[in-house]
Parts: sequence; C-alpha cells; structure tokens
Amino acid sequence: MAVSDNRTIRTNHAAATMPLQRLDHRHLSAPKPGRLSLSTQATSPSTDKTASKPPDKPAIHSIYEPKTGTWQYIVADPSTSAAAIIDPVLDYDPATHEISTNTADALLTLIKKEGYTVVVILETHAHADHLTAASYLQARLTQEQAQTPPIGIGADITKVQQVFGQKYGIPADEYSGVFGRLFRDNEVFAIGSLSAVAIHLPGHTPDHMGYRIGDNVFAGDSIFHTDLGTARTDFPGGDAASLFRSARRLLSLPEHVRIWVGHDYPSEMRATPVSSVSVGEHRQENKHVKLDVAEEEFVKMRNCRDEGLPPPKLIHPALQVNVRAGKVPPMLKVPVERNGVEW
Ligand SMILES: [Fe+2]
Repeated sequence: MAVSDNRTIRTNHAAATMPLQRLDHRHLSAPKPGRLSLSTQATSPSTDKTASKPPDKPAIHSIYEPKTGTWQYIVADPSTSAAAIIDPVLDYDPATHEISTNTADALLTLIKKEGYTVVVILETHAHADHLTAASYLQARLTQEQAQTPPIGIGADITKVQQVFGQKYGIPADEYSGVFGRLFRDNEVFAIGSLSAVAIHLPGHTPDHMGYRIGDNVFAGDSIFHTDLGTARTDFPGGDAASLFRSARRLLSLPEHVRIWVGHDYPSEMRATPVSSVSVGEHRQENKHVKLDVAEEEFVKMRNCRDEGLPPPKLIHPALQVNVRAGKVPPMLKVPVERNGVEW
C-alpha cells in the first residue's frame, strides 16, 4: 500500500460492568475542535539557532494534531538521514469508533519526502487522551524501508500494562513484548550519528520518559508551555511531588536547551500552539514550576487542580490500544458508571 493510502478499521465496543474509576488523564483544557490538519515546523541545521554544535544537531519537524492537541515529532540526523518518530497519533472517532490514518500517513509522506530512514519510534508514555500510531507506522515502515524500527518507551511501561491489562481484561500475551526497546534512566541510544539519552520523568505517569537529542529534550507531558505549566498527575502511578522533581530536573539543564512538549492547547489568549521554549524561559515564566515555586506549594496546587478535571474523552480506547503499543483489537471494552444504581 502506498504511504499516502488511508485505512479505516471499525472497532466495536462491548459494554462491561466495571465501575468507572478516576483515571483522569485529559490535560488542562480541551483542545478546540477542528478539521484534521497538520502544521509542520522543520528546524533545519542551518536555521535552528538554538540547537547545539554539530554533530548532535538534529533536524526537527514538529507536526500538530489539533483534535487531541498533540505535538508529534520527527527528529533526524542530517548526516545519515536516520530519524526517530516521537508520539505519533492514530485518528479515532469516538462517535463511530472508526480508526483512520490521515495523521500517521502525513508523517509517512514527510519521511518519504525528506528521504529519512526511521530507526526507532519513541513513546514518551502510555497516553490516555489519544491513540498511538506506533504499531501502524512500524508496519508501514517495514514495507517501505529495509529495516523494522522498534517501538521504544520507558521500562516502567510494564507496570502500566499490568494495571490496565487487569482493568480491561487484556490477555498478557497481547501486551507482553510489544515494545522492542524498554529504556532505563540515562540510557544512551543512537539515531544515526546522533546520540540520544532517555531521561526518566515520572509524575504524570510512572513510565514517563523524555528524550534528549542534542540540545533538545522531547519532554512529553512532564511539562507544558509556560502559560499552562504542567500536566495532571491523577493517573494511576502519577504523583505530584515526582512531577515537580522531574520538571526541576529539566530546568536544571543549560538555559539554552529547548523543551519540546507533548501537547499544547490554543486559547483565546494564544491562538497558535507552541511546540517548544527554552529551559531559561521555563525557569522564569512557567506557571507551575518556575524557580520561585516551592515543591509543597506545587503539590498542593496540582492535587487540588486534578480533583476538578474530567476524564479524557478517549481514555478507554486509548489505554487499551496504547498498552498494546498501538495494536487495535477487534473489540474494546467500556466501563459503565452505574452511579450506585443496582437492580
Ligand atoms: Fe499524557
């Protein structure tokens, strides 16, 4: 199948009687609805004023998916054209339970246009607000290029898989071994001649990783744009104090290092989504974790704020698909909230 072809997979939901738990993962505010469209920011070696000196200076493509407010990234080594995909989105319509691949196919088109060979597909964590396209992309790239890129994620994904495997009744053989790389804190890996480092950033989720490539950290949902602050921590295994320390670990990096976020949500105050700002800007301006905010103050704020957040719209399909690294089962389960009504 050509890389630009779209596939549609219909998924049926089966009702279950498990109580709806507070597994909120939706972030600070809902993204504005909109047509599926992509904006791409390509940071070439010649135009990126903030990247580090060669050879650790990647080309960075930022691709925004507006329905879930997700920033996806393609990060490439200009000297070898080896590339990594970070946090790709699989389109899912919660009204019809249809999956489509417009967003993922746009990534493939860009990869083909640039002549990249994808050597790894990176997940920052098991998302609960969107489905990952990692498995789909891995299959398509295996057809397109001479090698199969592994799907990488933090090693603690096994804990997350056990929690949600049990919750949703997923057989262990459907999620065991689906991630080809399980990263530990400070583990170094290669993207062509680029050296990348996995950085454990727990708090939002226990498995959460950031990936430092040159003077850039792809930080997922550990920290958000300065006017949003941080992500929620009421996910199972989430912890506000851990998130504060993870954010401060990022802010301890040199001030010119750029932090690339996993989500951004345009608002009336700021119409355009932003993919990155510098460590120095976060130190001075981040709403939640700037340097004059104490851990105790942050924890109190974060926990209070999380209590009022609704669950993300796609939490059930997202978690069931994402612990499988993006493989879509023929049936999904939806816990029913009975509100105490029994008969
Ligand atoms: Fe998340």
